[in-house]
This record gives sequence, C-alpha cells and structure tokens, in this order.
Amino acid sequence: MTKPIHGFSKLDKSEKINWLAKNYLNNDDSAISVLKQYWNTNDELQKLHDEFIENTVSNFYLPLGLAPNFRINGKYYVLPMAIEESSVVAAASKAAKFWDERGGFKASVLNTKKIGQVHFLFQGEFSRLDKLITKIKPKLREAVKPITRNMEKRGGGILDINLIDKTSELDNYYQLFVNFDTRDSMGANFINSCLEKFAEVLQEEAQQNPEFTAKEKELNVIMSILSNYVPECIVRAEVSCPVEDLSENEDMTGQEFAEKFIQAVKIAEIEPYRAVTHNKGVMNGIDAVVLATGNDFRAVEAGVHAYASRNGRYTSLTHAEIENGIFKFWMEIPLALGTVGGLTSLHPLVKLALDILQRPSANDLMKITAVAGLAQNFAALRSLTTTGIQQGHMKMHLMNILNQNQATDQEKEELVEFFTHHTITHSSVIEQLENLRS
Ligand code: MEV
Repeated sequence: MTKPIHGFSKLDKSEKINWLAKNYLNNDDSAISVLKQYWNTNDELQKLHDEFIENTVSNFYLPLGLAPNFRINGKYYVLPMAIEESSVVAAASKAAKFWDERGGFKASVLNTKKIGQVHFLFQGEFSRLDKLITKIKPKLREAVKPITRNMEKRGGGILDINLIDKTSELDNYYQLFVNFDTRDSMGANFINSCLEKFAEVLQEEAQQNPEFTAKEKELNVIMSILSNYVPECIVRAEVSCPVEDLSENEDMTGQEFAEKFIQAVKIAEIEPYRAVTHNKGVMNGIDAVVLATGNDFRAVEAGVHAYASRNGRYTSLTHAEIENGIFKFWMEIPLALGTVGGLTSLHPLVKLALDILQRPSANDLMKITAVAGLAQNFAALRSLTTTGIQQGHMKMHLMNILNQNQATDQEKEELVEFFTHHTITHSSVIEQLENLRS
C-alpha cells in the first residue's frame, strides 16, 4: 500500500511527477509524458501558471471558443467561451444570430451590492450589544481606512454595517452584516480583509466595554467571510419580438413555437427536476464566459442556484410570456463579477478575453454574461421543443467519437458525410468506422 508522503510541496515539479508515477501509475513513462506534454515551452509562461496554485504538475487545457454576433444594447460583441462541452458555443452563436435578426439582446444592471458577514457569539443583553455596535461603527470604518482608501477613490467602499440578531435560529448567534460596493473588482480579498479587521476591532471593543458583563466581554468571533449569495447584485437580460417573427420555416408558426416554448419555461418554473437541468443550460453559457474572463465560476454557481431557490422551491431562472402579440423572454440573476484584480491581469488568455470584450466594466461583463446564459437557454429550449436536443448534440459528438478512435482526416470526412443522412449513435459511428477500415 502507498504510504503518505510528508513534504510533497517541497519537491520540485519533476520529483512530484516521479513520485506520482511510482506510487500511483505503475511507474508508467507514458503517464509522465502525458503530463509533460502539456507543459508550455515558454518557461516564463509555464512558471506563471505553476504559481497560480500549489503542487502544479501540468496544465489542464479547456478549449476557448468564440461566439460572434451578440448584439447587446445595440453593440456587437464576440463572446470568448471556455468550455469542454460540444455544441455549447455553436448553440450560443446560433441564438446570437437568431436574436440579432430580431433586434438583439437588452441587458441592464439592477444593483451591485456585495455582502460580507462577521459571524459571532454573544451571551448577554441584546440592547447593550446593539448600543456598542452603534457606538463603534465609525471606529470600524476608520480601522479599515488603509484597505478602503483606494476603493473609495474608485467610488466604492463600505455601504453599511448592520447588526443582525440570529439567536432565534441558533443560540447566541449574531452577525455584522456588511454591504460593499467593489466597483470593477469581484472584491473577495477586499471584503474579507475588511471583515477580518472588523472582527478584530469588535472583539477588542467588547473586551474593553465597561458596560458589558464578564460574559458579554467574551464575545466570540467564529468567522469572517464574504457571502457568495448576492441577491442584490442583479443583472437582467431580455429579448422580445412580435410572435410571428419567431417562425423560421413552414413546420411551425411563430404562435405555435412561442406557446410550446413558454410551456417549457413554465414546466421549469414549477418542476424542480426540470428546473435544475433548465438552469444547467443557462449556466453552460454563463460559466463559459465566467471562466474565460478569469472569474470564480464556483462562486457564481453557488450564488445563482441559491437565488433560484430563494422562495423556498428551486425554480427556473428564465421566464417567458406573450404580451399584446409580443414574445418576451428574460432572466434576472445575481452575478458578482470583476474585470480588475484576481486573474484578470495575470492570465494572458483572460487579459485577451477581456480585450475581445473591449475591456468591459464589471457592469458590462455582468450584462454580457447574463446574455450568454439567456442565449444558451433559448437555444436549448428551441431545440428541445422542436427537433429534440440529440440531433445537434450528436453532430458535435460525432467528432469526439471519431477523435477518440483516432480517425484519420479522410475517415472523418467520409463519416461526416455519411452521418448527414443517418442517425448518429455511438455504436453506429463505431460500426461505420470499422466498415471503412475493413
Ligand atoms: C445540456 O448541457 C444542457 C441542456 O440539458 C439544457 C436543457 O435541458 O435545457 C440541453
């Protein structure tokens, strides 16, 4: 059995790989080659990537695709999307073109508040705690001045600090609930630094407060951390057009399409099993842009899904209706994104992605990202309610199957042609490939 290793982080990259191969990969040289094959030949660039995280042994590539023709508030964008799932970029591009021909997307930022909390325990009289917090608010703000100065110059900073009594849900539990404006940065480091300072001051002030009992002086900070739930950092994306303009061919009228589409959205609104998959489709678009622009997709995912359940039942993020002959499709979601700080100036591809988007502000990026999500959901529902999803998916999947089976360019060409007239399944592709080869 493999023994635990001490000091793994002290080994250099090759030593780490050799240890891995020896202990977990049967000393397989080809495994080592796979890892090394992804090292960048540019040492400086490789070093940059090595230093993003700890114990780096290689790079993990994702394709970066482009979805052009996104008209958002009258301006054209090409969206950089980092994603491994075939057909997402194609679907986004298709939806962009569809809506470009019908007036484009509209998007607006409704608010941009970020939230952080100091979670603490206090055993005593609420009124005395409340009095202390009111008294020390200026002190709390003063204590974080070195952290907030630059943010304030950019128009952001701390919006308000509130004491929240949570003792009805958990004994002795209170919060300092703080709202922040972090301008163009996602603001995680800024918020957490402020919160930790608040915690320090809060604890000191409690200890020194002559009005507190001995027990009250033991005010105990449990943790200080931002919240990835940002229900007041909301962006709205929408499209609309006359119902008759939705029709693309004789198979379905605009009215028929709209009604079926709206029904599909309504199902996701009331049925959580469907809502999760429906929203997963939204996140296909959102995550791809979030990743390409160096933002934290885990934070976005967590926040968005919490928002989707804010009324006690998980529901659709998107909504649709027909009003006075106009089809409307929209979504409001929380997106805490940044276009400065973090990876944005460090990762060359992230920098490039932001250049591709014409160096957006955080608000612009919220709009673009929300539109990517809405477009993706539109594309998915359009396929699902008309041709079915597999037709498009399997076309893209065909290439993956061929690549997995080392098909030559000639074989690919012949089989792509063959499968324009035949149903694609994994087994039928393998069968045809074998036929060709025999
Ligand atoms: C697949 O990645 C996403 C879909 O399942 C979304 C949906 O069902 O709406 C197609």
